[in-house]
Amino acid sequence: MNEVTKQEMFLFFKKYLFLVISFLFVIGINTNIHWAVYLPISILFAALYKRLTDGYLRDLALRWERSNHHIYTFLYTVSFMGLGLYVFIFYFQLSVGFIVSLLSLFFCWGYFIYFFLKAHQRSAEHQEILEESPGVFMGHYLDKDGLPKARHVSNSDRVQHQITVGGSGFGKTFSTFMPQIYQDIQEGDNFIVIINMKSDMDFENKVYSWCKKFNRKFRYFSITKPELSSYYNPFLFGSRGMIRDKFMLFSSWDNAFYKKLVKTDLAKKLDGLYDEGVTISKMKQLFEEYEGDKDFKGVIADLEGVQYAPFYEKINDPFGSIHDFYKEKSVFFLSLDEDQMREYAKDFQCMIYNDLRGFAGYIRDRVDERDRTPTWIYSDEIKEVFDNSMTTYNSRSRAAGFGNFYATQSPSGDIPRDLLNQLQGSCKTWHILGGLDADSIEYINKQIGTEEIVKYTEQVELGVQTTNTGLGSARDAHKHVISHNTFRRLKLGEGVLYTKEEGFSKKIIYDAMFYLDDSEPRNYTNDFYDLGIKDSIEAEKQKYVKESIKKLTKPDDGLTEQERFYRDDFVPQVTITEEGSMPF
Ligand SMILES: Nc1ncnc2c1ncn2[C@@H]1O[C@H](COP(=O)(O)OP(=O)(O)OP(=O)(O)O)[C@@H](O)[C@H]1O
Ligand SMILES: [Mg+2]
Repeated sequence: MNEVTKQEMFLFFKKYLFLVISFLFVIGINTNIHWAVYLPISILFAALYKRLTDGYLRDLALRWERSNHHIYTFLYTVSFMGLGLYVFIFYFQLSVGFIVSLLSLFFCWGYFIYFFLKAHQRSAEHQEILEESPGVFMGHYLDKDGLPKARHVSNSDRVQHQITVGGSGFGKTFSTFMPQIYQDIQEGDNFIVIINMKSDMDFENKVYSWCKKFNRKFRYFSITKPELSSYYNPFLFGSRGMIRDKFMLFSSWDNAFYKKLVKTDLAKKLDGLYDEGVTISKMKQLFEEYEGDKDFKGVIADLEGVQYAPFYEKINDPFGSIHDFYKEKSVFFLSLDEDQMREYAKDFQCMIYNDLRGFAGYIRDRVDERDRTPTWIYSDEIKEVFDNSMTTYNSRSRAAGFGNFYATQSPSGDIPRDLLNQLQGSCKTWHILGGLDADSIEYINKQIGTEEIVKYTEQVELGVQTTNTGLGSARDAHKHVISHNTFRRLKLGEGVLYTKEEGFSKKIIYDAMFYLDDSEPRNYTNDFYDLGIKDSIEAEKQKYVKESIKKLTKPDDGLTEQERFYRDDFVPQVTITEEGSMPF
């Protein structure tokens, strides 16, 4: 028997088995029990059987495939076998005959054994897929046999960005971000940035525990927990022009004339600052001469505002640039809690994305493709920060090889529509989870688009007996690739994974987290304060400062100012230690 006919037979059985079972029950009417009792029982049993074969066995197959044999697998097996036995005894007692009882046993057990063998075979296949590593593993979809098949997203798709949409609590972070972060950390040799707009202890601890497990450098910056944060100066990296841009973008400018004035002035004044390393306090000093001028009040207030921030001390030193973290290939976790400190979170978000944008440009422009470190940037909850310049960053950072991942609760509400169009336009992979509002579903469906189908209509003649006239029409029609109802019915842990261009969209079960062994971290609540950061930060800072003070004198490298400006490293000398990375 060839593969197709076997598969077809299987599908046939799967579809009609419950009918066969009900039929067997109806045969029981021949016995002396009234049919009115039998009929509802047989329908109930048929429904139960269908439900079991759809959900129960699939779950069993999944567990088997994961090689996750624990007590549930055992219980499932025993109870399903028991069900078959029950049917057997039931008929036997009613003395309908051996044939009927054997048939029922055959169907129940036979179906189970088929599933069992198939799942076992898949388990081996799955192992092979994992070993080949075709990107990151996200979960499973069901093939046409109704059996689970692994779904990966390749790294070449991942550098073309991703967006996750889903209602609150439907697993944006857990189902779509965490599995990828885990696998990226495990992969090593990359730079990972996670920007979390919530102070989510569980998420932080998980990432920290994975870093520990796979021996990765964990860098943590929190606006609400500065005592645990490492140093990070978002204005430090870049040429004078880049730094000037970052300051210009940080403030809003009503008066075009003053904007021009400041731009020119900054360019001049940054010359003096550049080699020492730019800090916010030094920048503020530059503006002091405009103190009395009302048009400069805005920018001075912006800089002053940050100066009183609780995390100010951690961003105002001339070291800890994004380039340092890139070079040391760390996992950089930023926690910007919008709920506790909304304004600071927004300010900081603005700083970090401006820094990342400039940095992406630098990598694209000056670092050879072969020398680049794979960079994955996870942005959990995107909101106001996405102005026009951010969306161009999104499409351009592809050229730097940065993969960006975004999550949003309500694409129709959180972000202005035209910006969203641009953003989604440049994201190749979408994860669409449950809990979306009707507007968002409508919007997403429009984005994914429709496929052409041919609709046939037949002409009928109405009469006592309706007859087909043999006439009809065929016309082109459009149907949504994924129906509204599919989106509406998504449960927790389910979603549609859609890849643009390939048009590969399937409902998938996001169960990757359960595969990734030891992904449940131990209780780090106490351990958290022993991240290896808190105590060592001050000591290492002292050591670092001592070393860098030696270098504070202008570098004696024989370069002219102009040459130094274009030197490869692009970072003020003061930020580089002997090893080329910061020790804390
Ligand atoms: N695939 C899954 N399987 C089982 N449970 C899941 C799955 N995905 C998420 N959950 C559960 O749902 C909880 C909420 O998920 P998560 O925090 O990722 O939601 P979210 O969409 O990021 O919500 P928010 O908008 O509040 O950030 C998780 O803590 C987890 O327990
Ligand atoms: Mg979340």
